[in-house]
Amino acid sequence: MKILKSNRTGLISACLSLMLVLTACGSGTEPSNTAGSSGDEYKFKLTHITQPSHVWHKTAEKFAEELNTRSDGRMTVEIYAAGQLGPEKDMVQQLETGALDFGIITNGYMSTRLESLNAWFMPFVFDNLEEATKARTTEPAKEMLKELDKQGLVGMDFMFAGNRHILMKQSNVLTPEDAKGKKVRILGSPAIQDFWTALGAGPTPMPLPEVYTSLQTGVIDGIDIDLDALATEKYYENAKYLTLSNHMTFPAVVVMSKASQSKLSAEDQTLVNEAMKAAVDWGVQEAVARESKNLEELKKMGIEIKEVSDRSAFSQVKEDIQKKYAEKDPLIKSFLETTKK
Ligand code: BEZ
Repeated sequence: MKILKSNRTGLISACLSLMLVLTACGSGTEPSNTAGSSGDEYKFKLTHITQPSHVWHKTAEKFAEELNTRSDGRMTVEIYAAGQLGPEKDMVQQLETGALDFGIITNGYMSTRLESLNAWFMPFVFDNLEEATKARTTEPAKEMLKELDKQGLVGMDFMFAGNRHILMKQSNVLTPEDAKGKKVRILGSPAIQDFWTALGAGPTPMPLPEVYTSLQTGVIDGIDIDLDALATEKYYENAKYLTLSNHMTFPAVVVMSKASQSKLSAEDQTLVNEAMKAAVDWGVQEAVARESKNLEELKKMGIEIKEVSDRSAFSQVKEDIQKKYAEKDPLIKSFLETTKK
């Protein structure tokens, strides 16, 4: 984050700040990490791993717009999309130090660092994406965001990509038996891995950029994916059997660097929080709207689309995984209780 002390509310506060700094330096004391004043100008950096066409990027753009308007142009946001700054592990490290200010980080990666986030990957909790997005404001979800404090992050919100479905090269997956022995690409996360293992499949963690070629060459038999990624990355070109399973949802955690936040005045922290909330409220609605638009588009692609009509076929796996994770973390237990229908 670049902080420009010159501001439009007047030179006086800048001079006062300068005098304070000079006084502190003169007395041999380093200026303490004081929060900035409300007229300061900021250039923030935000990062995420998806393409510019993806709903997470659009949400980031909306945030930049909201922040710029609400701060009368004092605050701007540079967006680094599509993993330009490296893998999520590196992004989080830079967020911890304050080299980056904001991140939209997959819950998949963050669940490897924070147990409670596995709650979002409990199988067959939500029938559709809209239902999943409502869990964003539940108490357990808010508690999970607070837990990110231990990682040097301010958990601001949850954003969504879509619910997960199954795309295969050979046939649809309507029962656990259909998945047996199949090599299925997943995003590496403990609960996702456990789910596919329990189905008898061979879960294969793989980053998104490798998926297209791996499907094409047959390195994998299929993928666990959301419709937005499936449509934007054109995976249907190499696999034609789509099962609408809604077996999990797929959120991202929207975070701010604690180091960056501590440099803002209380008023500016509120301004940033409100701008992010407005952006994510918009993004969540956009993600839900895209779910049906993407499905309509995919129907035109000549692929075989089937729905898991009998979810009870998966009930043993669902119960086993939910029990295992509820025992691991009290927040997962209360998330499951809160979202139970
Ligand atoms: C994935 O790796 O499956 C993924 C990551 C970010 C957004 C959507 C999907």
